[in-house]
This record gives sequence, structure tokens and C-alpha cells, in this order.
Amino acid sequence: MPKINLKTIKNRAKKEIKKAADLKELNGVFNKYLGKRGELTSVLRSLKTLPEKKRKERGKLANKIKREIEEIINEKKKNFQVSTFKPQEEWIDVTRPGKKPILGHLHPLTQVKRDVEEIFQSMGFSVVEGPEIETEWYNFDALNVPKDHPARDMQDTFWIRQENKEKLTDKKREIMRTHTSPVQVRYMEKNQPPLRIIIPGRIFRHEATDSRNEMIFHHIEGLMVDKNISLANFKAVIEEFLRRLFRKELKIRLIPTFFPFVEPGVEIDISCILCEQKGCSVCKNTGWLEVMGAGMVHPNVFKNSGLNPKDWQGFAFGVGMERLAMLKYKINDIRLFHSGDLRFFNQF
Ligand code: FA5
Repeated sequence: MPKINLKTIKNRAKKEIKKAADLKELNGVFNKYLGKRGELTSVLRSLKTLPEKKRKERGKLANKIKREIEEIINEKKKNFQVSTFKPQEEWIDVTRPGKKPILGHLHPLTQVKRDVEEIFQSMGFSVVEGPEIETEWYNFDALNVPKDHPARDMQDTFWIRQENKEKLTDKKREIMRTHTSPVQVRYMEKNQPPLRIIIPGRIFRHEATDSRNEMIFHHIEGLMVDKNISLANFKAVIEEFLRRLFRKELKIRLIPTFFPFVEPGVEIDISCILCEQKGCSVCKNTGWLEVMGAGMVHPNVFKNSGLNPKDWQGFAFGVGMERLAMLKYKINDIRLFHSGDLRFFNQF
């Protein structure tokens, strides 16, 4: 076996220890020289083949170098341990109170929408949707609103810009829907009665805003069609709906009014929830609040939906979702719903 220079081993090992950049590299150097098959370990193993005098001499030197290398490695190891392990930072105080995560919650209008849907679904109504960009036909004509009838002016409308608009027919001319009533026709075109649906959705009217009126707001339309439906059925359904929504026994009254798509048409007032009919600013001291329009579906609406009005009867209604939420949560300004003001929303 060629003679290995112990001092060369020592110098090489020292250099490599110095170069080691982390604990892994340092362990590599240890194994290279002092591991099971390490260079210095092999030298120590081979001592037994030497004559006694030589063995003692070389053994002494080899063990001294081994100790030296071990010492330098251990010393350097300490550096690494100090620099990677920082007890102050790693320490966790499990008794400290946690940070409360900020959780969001549903918008009050979404809460009311879900309540309304749940109540009607429990009475056998399905929830249906329709497009926000609507044709003039579905929004007005199909609902028995004649071309030059003043009813078209009842709701100021956002019209969609279209090329050669004058040449387009009513079925092609588009507007932002002014109510959810067009979905009545869309649904009856595709579905045979008997049917019970509600249609929640966003609607658009080009009008000035104030504490009770918005430009963009939500309606919930209702439609029930069968063989023998009357306003008595409507009254029963709506009384049950309002009782469950407001969790209160409420009086309602039906006042004759005009909507071209119903005959007869009614406005529904409820006894003022805020003042218990004693008189307040919200009910303008009348004790009554208007919440929705309704009536018996007009025969022309059945015809325009492809149904024979002699075969079917039904009621329809349209309620403002913001107005319901205002009454339920006693909110005195409709504009708060879209204000983005967290001081308002955090109350729900
Ligand atoms: C209608 O839009 C009819 N389509 C409702 C209807 C449906 C009648 C089916 C008959 C049969 P009206 O424009 O009155 O009706 O609106 C209905 C409800 O929406 C009102 O009772 C009121 O609660 C709410 N509402 C009306 N205008 C506004 C507004 N600018 N901002 C907020 N809510 C409004």
C-alpha cells in the first residue's frame, strides 16, 4: 500500500472544512476523512500491518490529526447551528390569544332575496331568471303595452345603442329591462301551465334617485297560472309570504290600479311595520305602505305567450326587493344599499 502523507490529508481536510458552506457540506467532509470508509479511518485501519515501532509513531500522529479534524469540524458546526436556529423567532406562545380573522357576510339584499326564495319555494314556486338586456317586444308589446299608450312613458327607459335602429323591429330593438314582467312571457312560451314561478332580478329605470327610489334596483316577479285561480288565491299567498318574511301578523289591502298586463290590477299596501299604524314619516301618517303591484294576467299576455286565455287563469305580482329590505331592517334611505359604506353593512 502506497504511503499516504498524513500532513497532506490534514491540510486538505482543513481547506475543505473552511470551504463548507452549510451543515450538509460539513458532514460530507467528515465522511470523506473520518467516516467508515474515510481516508484517515483507512490509515488507522492499516496500522496493524506495520512493524511495532512504526505503528506507534504513525498511530500517534494519525490519532492526533483525527482529533484535530474532529475539533475543527465541531467548532464550525456550532457556527452553523447558531446561524440557522434562532430560538427567539421560532418560539411560539401557545397561550397568546389568536388574531380574529375578518369574515365577510351576505349583503342585506342577498339575505332578503334568499329569504324570499325560500318562502316561495316552500309554497311550490320555482325560481326563474331572464335577461337584463331585453327586447322592446318582451318588455312592452308582449305585455299589452300598446305603441303610443302613455303607459310606455310610465317607466323611463335606457335604450341600447344599435346600428340602423329605426329599421329594426320591436323584436330586435333592445333596452335595459324596466321590470321583470317580460320573463312571464318568456317562461309561458316554453312551459305549459299549471305553473308557479318567482323571478328575482335587477332592473333599470332612467329616473332621479331619492331616499325611496333608485335607478338600478331589484324586482321579484311572481306568476301563478292554473285552471281556477282568483285574486283570493293571490291574497292568501301574499299574506302568507309577508307574514313569514316579516315574522309578524300584517294587514294587507288591495287598491284598484292600472297596469296594462293585468286585469283587474291592484296595488298592495301593508300595515306600517314601523309605527304599527299609529302614523309615522315613512307611511306619511297613513298607517299603510305600498309594496307591490299585482293583478290577474291579462288575456292578451296569455295570447302573446302562445296560450289560450279561455283555458287559463292566473295572477302576477311585482315587488321591489329594496323596499322589502328597507321595511325588514328599518332602513330609511334606499341609496345606502349601493353606497359601499362599511359602517352601514357591518350592522347586518
Ligand atoms: C311594475 O314594475 C310592474 N311590473 C309590477 C307588476 C307585476 C304589476 C305583475 C302587475 C303584475 P311598479 O313600477 O309599480 O310596477 O314597481 C313595482 C314595485 O317596485 C313598487 O311597488 C315598488 O316597491 C318598487 N319600485 C318601483 N320603483 C322603484 C324605484 N325607483 N326604486 C326602488 N323601488 C321601486
